[in-house]
Amino acid sequence: MTWNPDTWRNYPVVQMPKYTNQKHLLSVEAKLSSKPPLVFAGEVQALKRSLHMVENGDAFILQGGDCAESFSQFSANGIRDTFKVLLQMAVILTFGSSMPIIKIGRIAGQFAKPRSSDIEVLNGVELPSYRGDMINDMEFNEVSREPDPQRLLDGYEQSAATLNLIRAFAQGGMADLAQVHEWTLGFLSDTPETTKYQEIADRISESLNFMKACGLTSNTVSQLRETEFYTSHEALLLNYEEALTRKDTITAEKGWYSTSAHLLWVGDRTRQHDHGHIEFLSGIQNPVGIKCGPSLEPDDLIRLIEKINPLNDTGKIILICRMGSDKVHQNLPKLIKKVKSEGKRVTWCCDPMHGNTIKASNGYKTRKVSEILNEVNNFFNVHKDEGSYPGGVHFEMTGSNVTECLGGTNEVKESDLGSRYHTHCDPRLNGSQSLELAFLISDLLKKIRNE
Ligand code: PEP
Ligand code: CO
Repeated sequence: MTWNPDTWRNYPVVQMPKYTNQKHLLSVEAKLSSKPPLVFAGEVQALKRSLHMVENGDAFILQGGDCAESFSQFSANGIRDTFKVLLQMAVILTFGSSMPIIKIGRIAGQFAKPRSSDIEVLNGVELPSYRGDMINDMEFNEVSREPDPQRLLDGYEQSAATLNLIRAFAQGGMADLAQVHEWTLGFLSDTPETTKYQEIADRISESLNFMKACGLTSNTVSQLRETEFYTSHEALLLNYEEALTRKDTITAEKGWYSTSAHLLWVGDRTRQHDHGHIEFLSGIQNPVGIKCGPSLEPDDLIRLIEKINPLNDTGKIILICRMGSDKVHQNLPKLIKKVKSEGKRVTWCCDPMHGNTIKASNGYKTRKVSEILNEVNNFFNVHKDEGSYPGGVHFEMTGSNVTECLGGTNEVKESDLGSRYHTHCDPRLNGSQSLELAFLISDLLKKIRNE
């Protein structure tokens, strides 16, 4: 059967909202289909070339963002601050690894969440679960929880505005290496991470001065002035994804591209090989990130990889491992061995967030920075044992000074969680916790380079 952006409709799907007003949904889908693309085929191809380098051990992926973006917390300053922390992390990693760091924000489209239950019960009242701002509203009442197709358009508009800002930040001067000292956020100024960061920034400034004396400045060298920044999100809402999938007619590589983001993810709950989500992802040229949790069996992983990447193309598959710090040694080696023995081309990434979620005694969903660090360490160790390359990381993080994850050098305690707990879904690392992690990974990468 020929693949088309709408062939997923012939397959079963789970985790998709049930819209009661189909007429409204159809009109929204039609409007979305005529909207401009958010990203372009040429950019997707550039990302794939970078992922090819990662597969060869010559580059490293830094991916980060909110667990769920929200309509109400949308602000230019929030995006700017997250972008700045990501730039700082990238500088720390580049400095440690002497490799290109591929920067990806899980942003500008990360609005839909899979849920373990279709319903939520509160004080005896039963309502549909909140599924992310692109589907319904978090507030616990019947009207808010009804899936509303208009939200697909609102999500598109917010994604377009977010991407516009990110492109301006990446190419309009903020990401200029000469600004390396300006990326530190005010509330981070007296942390140990910032002291360490300033040392790196000073050395970069020194090198830039030397290069300036040789006639090379950010005015003359675009690599110093600009940075590449890619976007990703989980491709859960196939109505939205279908409408933004376009045939590329400009670049040499003809084919269907998702123009909603450069990289699309698929989760544990929607990765059934004979369901609609995998059907959709198997037809687009974009790279695909597959969440790999402890329940993923090696044979299932191979079947998935073969369905999504039948030609074993390079730069196509990213395996985003989220085992839990204590389960990495038990679960990851068998996946690596199988992928190796089958000769599949993949990039291994570590998501140390999702396997380490706990409930604090005061009820907050949280994560310990120490466990997050442990998972990253274990991930690197297993790859060393297996002779494979740990190609990247994904964090749920924000530039805001939130108190959602426990510990770190700023020692967020259980009793602090309530003071600035703003996430719409999972707990995120704040700025200083993010930098702390970047330093750890920088050391791990340095070790690999020196081995
Ligand atoms: C996520 O990827 O942010 C997430 C919450 O994943 P999942 O619900 O699939 O575990
Ligand atoms: Co999450």
